[in-house]
Amino acid sequence: MKCLHTESNPDAAREQSTVSKRPAKKTPPTRTAANPPRRFVVGVSGASGAWYAQRLLAILLEQGHEVHLVVSDYGKRLLFDESGIKTIDLESMCPGFYKSLSATQRADATRRLVLHPNKDVGAVIASGSFLHDGMVVIPCSSSSLGAIATGSGSNLLTRAAMVTLKERRPLIICHREMPLNLIDIRNMETLALAGATICSPNPGFYLLPKSIDDIIDFTVGKVLDLLKVDHDLKTRWEHHDAE
Ligand SMILES: Cc1cc2nc3c(=O)[nH]c(=O)nc-3n(C[C@H](O)[C@H](O)[C@H](O)COP(=O)(O)O)c2cc1C
Repeated sequence: MKCLHTESNPDAAREQSTVSKRPAKKTPPTRTAANPPRRFVVGVSGASGAWYAQRLLAILLEQGHEVHLVVSDYGKRLLFDESGIKTIDLESMCPGFYKSLSATQRADATRRLVLHPNKDVGAVIASGSFLHDGMVVIPCSSSSLGAIATGSGSNLLTRAAMVTLKERRPLIICHREMPLNLIDIRNMETLALAGATICSPNPGFYLLPKSIDDIIDFTVGKVLDLLKVDHDLKTRWEHHDAE
């Protein structure tokens, strides 16, 4: 069995990063009147789980949605440690999807992935006037969880999350840490009471995952459900009579 612990070994991380190397594996639902392009905000903070963010971005962009991305400093470190990403752009974040596109499609998808500096609390996503269909913090560190719960808007990621809450838009927090201390639990309670959805990467095994991709898709599919984005990822349990 391969060791997946890559924190201190970026070369090993790149070597093992099947997600960042593989092509997009599924055809997304086509854009139809029932599935029109929408606009989402994605925050990546410094918790383990870069692959979740990459997979989510690829699916949203494949489907023609616009994604506003903000990555914290430690989020950048995680993207490097776990996926070897040095410069954040469409090609590095979604390599399989990028390779599948023509030059024109690349230009279109690049335009739809808008990267905002985390220091810029004056960016559009910091304002309630900027309309969007929901924000996901994936992965969300305990530090960002706490900052959002206390209403600290000192960086763009936490400010955009606060604004999403005040505008009563979906805010999905994919917090990754274990075990949880009481502070994390209380911060989750605060955010849940304020309207956020706590959706920790917490895979079910009832669909009998065969790969890390399947495990990632389980969480990403849940997030897409919460955003009301169509997908064909395997997340849903279907009843079978016990033999
Ligand atoms: C390699 C690495 C992995 C980490 N994994 C986690 C994690 O899974 N969950 C977490 O809450 N913090 C994790 N941390 C710690 C956070 O990155 C740290 O608390 C940081 O201040 C978070 O800042 P941010 O929320 O602005 O990104 C990790 C740090 C490093 C360097």
